[in-house]
Amino acid sequence: MLNFRYHPEIAKLGAAHLVTPDLEKSLWFFRDILGLHVTARTENKVYLRAGMELEHHSLVLEAGDRARLDHVTWRVRRPEDLEGFHDILKDGGTEVTVEAANKEDGIGESLRFQAPSGHNYRLYYDVDKPTVDEADRSVLLNQPYRSWHHGIGVRRIDHVNLWTTRDPAENHKWMSDMLGFKMREYVTTPEGTIGGWMSVTPLVHDVAIMKAGPNETTPARMHHVAFWLDNAADVLRACDILFEAGIEADQGPGRHGISQATFLYVRDPGSGHRVEIFSNGYLIFDPDWQPVEWGMDNIKTALCMWGPTDYVPHTNDHVMNTTTEA
Ligand SMILES: [Fe+2]
Repeated sequence: MLNFRYHPEIAKLGAAHLVTPDLEKSLWFFRDILGLHVTARTENKVYLRAGMELEHHSLVLEAGDRARLDHVTWRVRRPEDLEGFHDILKDGGTEVTVEAANKEDGIGESLRFQAPSGHNYRLYYDVDKPTVDEADRSVLLNQPYRSWHHGIGVRRIDHVNLWTTRDPAENHKWMSDMLGFKMREYVTTPEGTIGGWMSVTPLVHDVAIMKAGPNETTPARMHHVAFWLDNAADVLRACDILFEAGIEADQGPGRHGISQATFLYVRDPGSGHRVEIFSNGYLIFDPDWQPVEWGMDNIKTALCMWGPTDYVPHTNDHVMNTTTEA
């Protein structure tokens, strides 16, 4: 029914807001090693963005007593889409809070709500775009910071991978009906659909929503937040930089079947939050793209074509303890 009336749109992933029990160590990892740039700082929060990003931040680190994902932000396509989403979410039975523009984080008026998966989202359109100091500025007019400014030098945020103890398929449908995400690839087992990779952009996924194990203490968790590099060789360079910094990669490098991306997982030593360093995924331009189904006979290829042999979570219990709380 919603398809027959004006439908607001989400344009892109905005940011992940992570809470860390060791803010300074997390800042060292995300700024000095991953290569993000600090755009603002308060007593207990640091706002960061990657080298290609114009918006105020794509990552927030907030000091807290335990590692958790506070919320994920999404930028809507047009200013009036906030009102459109407000109506659709309310009509669909979701409680929505309207938040006034926030000078601290550079975000204009926004909507906050919780998805059935238990994850907290925030939608915005207006956002500050801080200028870059001349010493850090690129000579290129189409990117704010110098290439390879420092650390691994990730280019932009790519996606979030979120886990829920609740039925993923119901959440996929909700993400599609309420927020307009398209299913691109999914994995089905005898238990049902255990994961779906969804996007509003040509990326295979801006968000993946996966089934968490049955013994989780909270319904919603984050498996990882991913940052993009332009080339697979840059992921290998990242391995060297991590090794020199004394940080052991969590898993990888390897290549996913789903998304076809080269990946490397690494944990922030300050919080345990997992970060994926991600490159070379394919893009989808077909308006009639049919979701690709993977099953038990090809789940290994789907999740890990090659790379770490212990990667494949054949059962959810296998990786139950590898998520951080949402
Ligand atoms: Fe990922």
